[in-house]
This record gives sequence, structure tokens and C-alpha cells, in this order.
Amino acid sequence: TSVESFYEQVGGEPTFHRIVARFYEEVAKDELLRPLYPEEDLGPAEERLRLFLMQYWGGPHTYSDQRGHPRLRMRHAPFKVGPAERDAWLRCMRLAVDEAGLQPQHRDQLWQYLEMAANSMMNSWF
Ligand code: HEM
Repeated sequence: TSVESFYEQVGGEPTFHRIVARFYEEVAKDELLRPLYPEEDLGPAEERLRLFLMQYWGGPHTYSDQRGHPRLRMRHAPFKVGPAERDAWLRCMRLAVDEAGLQPQHRDQLWQYLEMAANSMMNSWF
């Protein structure tokens, strides 16, 4: 009777947990991306991305309760995000999304957003 959010349709928190954990597993091995992360422990960064995506897709607002307005472009300003960094980020995310077992229509919708978001995060053209 009620309209389910995308968050609910794809299975809620466990689905986002799986995708973001897989993404960071890949980031940890990536020579270009890993040095960008200021902390030794990728756990807190993993939690922030997971909570952000859950909130974006209609889940709980824990991200903003903890971090305030996302202002993602501003938060990425300290890190060089050029074409190579964007491509590396999307490569890691592609694996994570493809392995998550979503229905094709959900997978495509999520992917379209992530590509757009990664492009919009660029702050360097080399
Ligand atoms: C934070 C890199 C794209 C969402 C970060 C951080 C780095 C980074 C180095 C700091 C880690 C930390 O939180 O301690 C990149 C690179 C990207 C990219 C190289 C390539 C395009 C994106 C995209 C999204 C995103 C597309 C969203 C769809 C976030 C979030 C945080 C974050 C939510 C934590 C912000 C906060 O609350 O402090 N990113 N990112 N990033 N990134 Fe990205």
C-alpha cells in the first residue's frame, strides 16, 4: 500500500553495507586512491559513505545527524579528484555494484547516479 523507497526496494542497510564494504576493499588495493585517504583506518570513511548513500536513497538520516549538510564537493576539495581518480573510484564502485546482486533496473539507476556524482566531484582536469 505504501510506496517503498529505493533504499527499501534494494534491501535496506545490508545491501548498502555490502556494496560499500566491497568498494573499500578495492580502494585499499588501489595505488592511486589509497594514498588520498588521510586515515590509516578506512573504517570511518567506509561508514560515512555508507550512511550518505543510505540517506540519499531514502533510508535513515543518520549521515546528516552526524555530519550535517553533505556539501560533498567542499568536503572533497582537499583531495585531487582528476580524471584518473574519478576513473579509479568508478572502477572500484563498478565491481561493488555488479557483485551486489541487484535487479538490473535498480543496478542501472544506482550506477547512473554514481557516475554523475563522480563526475561532479572532479576538481582537477589533469
Ligand atoms: C570522503 C575520495 C567520489 C562520497 C572522501 C574522502 C576521500 C574521497 C579521500 C575522505 C575520506 C574520509 O571520509 O575520511 C573520493 C574520490 C572520488 C570520490 C577520489 C572520485 C570521484 C565520491 C562520490 C561520492 C562520495 C561520487 C558520493 C556519491 C563521499 C562521502 C565522504 C567522502 C560521503 C565523507 C564526507 C564526510 O562526511 O566527511 N572521498 N571521493 N565521494 N566521499 Fe568521496
